[in-house]
Parts: sequence; structure tokens; C-alpha cells
Amino acid sequence: MNTTITLKEVDYEQPEGGSVCSTKHAWARVPAEPSPDERAALKDKIRRLLKEKNAVMVSHYYVHPDLQDLAEETGGIVSDSLEMARFGRDHAAQTLVVSGVRFMGETAKILSPEKTILMPDLDATCSLDLGCPIQEFSAFCDQHPDRTVVVYANTSAAVKARADWLVTSSCALDIVRALKDQGHKILWAPDRHLGDYIRRETGADMVFWNGACIVHDEFKAFELEALKKEHPNAKVLVHPESPADVIALADAVGSTSAILKAAQTLDAQEFIVATDNGMMHKLRALNPGKVFYEAPTAGNSATCKSCAHCPWMAMNGLAGVAQVLETGSNAIHVDPALIPRARLPIDRMLAFTAALRNGQPTAGLVPHIGAA
Ligand code: 13P
Ligand code: SF4
Repeated sequence: MNTTITLKEVDYEQPEGGSVCSTKHAWARVPAEPSPDERAALKDKIRRLLKEKNAVMVSHYYVHPDLQDLAEETGGIVSDSLEMARFGRDHAAQTLVVSGVRFMGETAKILSPEKTILMPDLDATCSLDLGCPIQEFSAFCDQHPDRTVVVYANTSAAVKARADWLVTSSCALDIVRALKDQGHKILWAPDRHLGDYIRRETGADMVFWNGACIVHDEFKAFELEALKKEHPNAKVLVHPESPADVIALADAVGSTSAILKAAQTLDAQEFIVATDNGMMHKLRALNPGKVFYEAPTAGNSATCKSCAHCPWMAMNGLAGVAQVLETGSNAIHVDPALIPRARLPIDRMLAFTAALRNGQPTAGLVPHIGAA
């Protein structure tokens, strides 16, 4: 079995005037691609172990296609971060194997402390989470006591425990709009591009933490315009963690699942996609005959630090899944003292989005700013 692991250095600049520090350094370890025989053997082993351990796989759209397909084939899910949270909470299995990044495993644990949450690699992190340490974030919140704290799911359990509301890119617009309608001024963290997109769309009064996703921050409007000229019939699909000038070129803006839906519903045969290229697997599988191009991250104005693939999502592999199922290693632990408070903003988000989905009123779920 090929157990080679490559260590990838990840240097990234914090944005100018960043709330934390000027330059960050991180790393990711990427497992080697198994041979066809190893792949088949690992998949068989995982299928068997899932049954034996009463476990289910929960995968994000950005992880290796094998982990997406196997999750679906075995009764699990491949989805965006919101649906991963809901599925993990509601599924009867006592063990979840979460393929994604650490905040996804932690969210599952906060929602289901009694379950065992395993991850192929516990060091799979996220530049947004890394760039929003709790002490500095808490001090930022203290400077704005009159604001409702809305944080993105891509954060630590401690940051969630400081928040009033959690959002993902699937529901951020709806939740901030509802908060604005009830008179709330918002403190938003950590992704400044997503936050500014929400502010432009809703007109809410928002102050921002200055974080960014190293994958989406690299998409370049100048090169995207050039690619559009090469493919004039292509529609542009953009994840809102991308810079504003990239979003301005989009035909559809939204979460990973919204991008998937747009590819199915927009009247086009060609698409340029500005999100992690792990999405291409599902986009192509669900849209045979349609053509998908990756939005440019390189070119004259780019350094391509991630090349449109999250180095931490890439830490998830078949061998890791098989190993954690077999040994029970890599279980997520969240400080039990944090769980009740961290759960509050997540529960609010899940209740709000469930009401939206079921066509029920959401007004009662968002208190007026003056209300107790
Ligand atoms: P979604 O919530 O759209 O799945 O995004 C999660 C993420 O990490 C995007 O980079
Ligand atoms: Fe974080 Fe970006 Fe990776 Fe998503 S793609 S997990 S936001 S670094």
C-alpha cells in the first residue's frame, strides 16, 4: 500500500490591515493517490467497516471524488456545510466520518456530543478558522457591544460560542436580511468578501473581521474576463468567498449547493466555475454533456497559492477513512464547557433554515433588537 504523504507548505498573506497579524504560515499533508487495486481494496474495507461500526460518511463537495461517491453509495451524504451539519445531527448512526475540514467535524460534535465524530485528518483546517483566533475576535466583539455577532461556519467552537448567529453561504443572505429587518446592526466574521457581498445585497449596517479563504481569494477578475471572451456562451458561477470584482462578473452567486443547482437550471451548456475544483466532480456527474471550465487563479496578476483546490480538503483520503474507522483514532473533541453556548447560534441557523425550507414564517425566530 502506498502510504507516501506529501507535506505542502501554505504561505498566505493576511489582508492589509488584517485584524490579526500580517503573514500566516500553515501546512497541509496530502496523501498519495492509491493505485487502482489499492483503491478497490480500501473502498471494500470502508464499506465493511461502516456496517460493522454503525457509521455513516458525511463528505463535502471539495473532497476527493472517491469520498464523495462512497458517501452517497453507502447511505451518507455529499453536500455543502449547512446540509452536512443537518444530516449529521439527524442521522441515527452513532459514528460519523466527516470528510472535509475541522470546523465541519466540530460542528457535528457540537450538535451531537453523544456521537463519535471521526475525521481522516484532524489537522485539516481552513484559513478563515486559522485567521480568527478567539482572543482577538473576542476583543473585537467587545469593541462593538451594540452589534449582533454573526459568524460564518468556518470558525472554531470557541468563536461560535461568542456568536449570536451562525451562517453558511447557503443562508447568510436570508439571515442577515431578517436581522436587518428587525433592527440589528451586524458584526460579521471572518470572511470579508462574503461579508461585503452580504452587505451589498442587503444594505445591512455591518463591520467586518478581515479574513479570507486562500482558495477563493485567488480568483482574478482580469483573467476571468479574458476566459469569458474565449467562451462567450458560458455562464459564470461564483462562490461568494471570492473578491467583489469576480462576483460582479457572475451569472449566479452562491454556496456550493447553489452553484450545483445553477448549473442544472441555467439555460447554458458551458460554465466557468469560481470555486474549489473539487466541485467539478459533482457538476460533471449531474450534468453530462455540459462543459465546465475552472475560473482562472493564475495569470499575470496571480501567484496561485492554492490553484483552486483547498490544501486542507485535500488531506482527506480513502486510507485515512479506512484507518479511522478501523482504529477509532482521530475522534473530534470539543471542550464540553463550550458546547451549550456554541450550539446556540447553530441551532438558530438550523431552525431558521428549516422554517424557510418548509415555507413557515421566520419572523418569530429573529427577535426585534429591542426585545428581551
Ligand atoms: P459551503 O458552505 O458553500 O459548502 O462552503 C464551505 C466552504 O468551506 C467554502 O470554501
Ligand atoms: Fe476554508 Fe477556503 Fe478551504 Fe473552504 S476552501 S475550507 S473556506 S480554506
